[in-house]
Amino acid sequence: MCGIVGYIGDQQAYPILIKGLHRLEYRGYDSAGVALISQSGELNVYKEKGKVVALERLCEKTDVTGTIGIAHTRWATHGEPNASNAHPHYSESRSLALVHNGIIENYKVLRLELEKNGVTFRSETDTEVLVQLVEFMMNSHHCDLYTAVQLALKNVVGAYAIAILEKSHPDTLVCARKGSPLIIGVGKSETGRPEYFLGSDATPIIEYTDKVIYLNDEEIAVMDRTGRLEITNLANVKQTPQLVTLQMNLEELEKGGYPHFMLKEIWEQPNALRTCIKGRLDRENSEVVLSGIIDNKEKFQNCRRIIICACGTSWHSALIGKYFIEEACQIPVEVEYASEFRYRNPVIFPDDVVVAVSQSGETADTLAAIQLAKEKGAFLYGICNVIGSSIARATNSGTYLHVGPEIGVASTKAFSGQVITLALLGLAIAKVRGTLDTKFYQMLVDELYQIPDKMQWTLEHNKDIDKFAERFTYCKNFLYLGRGYNYPLALEGALKLKEISYIHAEGYPAAEMKHGPIALVDAEMPVVVIAPKKGMYDKVVSNIQEIKSRSGKIISVVTEGDTVVKGMSDYCFVIPDTRDCFVPLLAVIPLQLLSYYVAIAKGCNVDQPRNLAKSVTVE
Ligand code: F6R
Repeated sequence: MCGIVGYIGDQQAYPILIKGLHRLEYRGYDSAGVALISQSGELNVYKEKGKVVALERLCEKTDVTGTIGIAHTRWATHGEPNASNAHPHYSESRSLALVHNGIIENYKVLRLELEKNGVTFRSETDTEVLVQLVEFMMNSHHCDLYTAVQLALKNVVGAYAIAILEKSHPDTLVCARKGSPLIIGVGKSETGRPEYFLGSDATPIIEYTDKVIYLNDEEIAVMDRTGRLEITNLANVKQTPQLVTLQMNLEELEKGGYPHFMLKEIWEQPNALRTCIKGRLDRENSEVVLSGIIDNKEKFQNCRRIIICACGTSWHSALIGKYFIEEACQIPVEVEYASEFRYRNPVIFPDDVVVAVSQSGETADTLAAIQLAKEKGAFLYGICNVIGSSIARATNSGTYLHVGPEIGVASTKAFSGQVITLALLGLAIAKVRGTLDTKFYQMLVDELYQIPDKMQWTLEHNKDIDKFAERFTYCKNFLYLGRGYNYPLALEGALKLKEISYIHAEGYPAAEMKHGPIALVDAEMPVVVIAPKKGMYDKVVSNIQEIKSRSGKIISVVTEGDTVVKGMSDYCFVIPDTRDCFVPLLAVIPLQLLSYYVAIAKGCNVDQPRNLAKSVTVE
């Protein structure tokens, strides 16, 4: 939800800012803007509706010189996506320019108050209130920018990551955060002089430096060209910055020859999962080594219940995790939509473990859910992909996915990374609680170890989905059905299709069909059935028969060698045999490819679907 970039140093800022915006475009892409202080001392702001390329076109004929600047790519919350609502926003006198990620909840009250004091606004956004308030504080308290930001933010309710330029101080960059991420990159230019970078995540920074500081909530930082970097909190108490070295590789941020990040990330899954289990799944000794569990053994030995909070795709992987953990550890697991959990005064016991599952580690609802659980005394465990993210830092312990940056807005490799990490978690907890027989444990470890190879097989054997995807572009609706572990997968398949191809799709437990959804089935309705030759196979075969007798089109995912379901299907995808609980890790691949190729056949932008953004850092 909105991406922020900033630079101060010896280099020309514009190319750094534009490159950074391209890297952050997954966070929002309805408008973009840049502010620079030129060599002649002008504070220039350029902004444009649409993607970053539109901004670049606009800037072709303008003065984009300057060695200090801030930039923004927007996902609209307050005010429609147009150039005047785009960031950066000027203050009334145009001596300040500000970019913002987050939501100012009391912006209406603040705006009214400022208007009463004669301030004139140019946009409908909550962000403009911030920059006007900072200028108002500077004027009324006769203070510098840093102090004015402190004073202003004390009056603000909501979430923000902000960066501000002041025309009369072209050597100083000020930023602050609360609830929305902001990272400061600390580098040295070719001339050996200090330079600083800002980013909503590390992707715009890694090209220049791997030394970063994660700003904490309610911290304000000021940087200048002499290398001064000062951080205080809102109460003006000096903070000691913690310099961290990034573990990220620039190649991971490129498409690497694929037409889209989504396709690259689908094909990356076998290797991504190998990295995820490396050093954690010890096949020889039949062990799962998760330091987060080992270091907190008693918490997991003695906990009464596990509650998993997540949103969207992460909620689907959490549901698969629930089935596995309950089966393996004999402990009740509840899966909650973080957005509901945070507002409904849930019962949380101090001996509960609350697990947050989030690719970005920045989802506002998930973050708020664990904050609530923390207040109620639960032990917090994070399963995140983005290292150093807010959720990773707010939890007591956790496990990173290590599947590499996921840039396509539709989650693919993070989903499979989450499912396999939750399986590791289940196995690690089962060990400390002694709930699984040694032989069975060994067999599960062994099978899990083979999953990346089996994923590779699945990818190779489902390459030609593109050949028939076009046939579904006319469809208005799809149904996805699965039972047991494959019910959450049906939900995930449906979500993938609707978010990138804009075709309405519903996921259902296969047996629920006859309680309502079967009324929708006719010759126009493709029904995707996940039907591996496992536990409830015969029952799923009956469900397929019910659909076929109503002329529904069957697209099935079957185990290699299956002839029965294949014979009943109009289209069929194969996966290798595996244990029931690991089928989603293989069956998800044809579902991801199906949604990708249908969206491509419809001419949709799969990496940046309409109305969506990758990290939902607002409510
Ligand atoms: C769907 C998708 C979203 C996210 C959801 C949670 O493809 O990506 O549904 O899963 O917004 O995001 P994280 O996992 O970052 O908390």
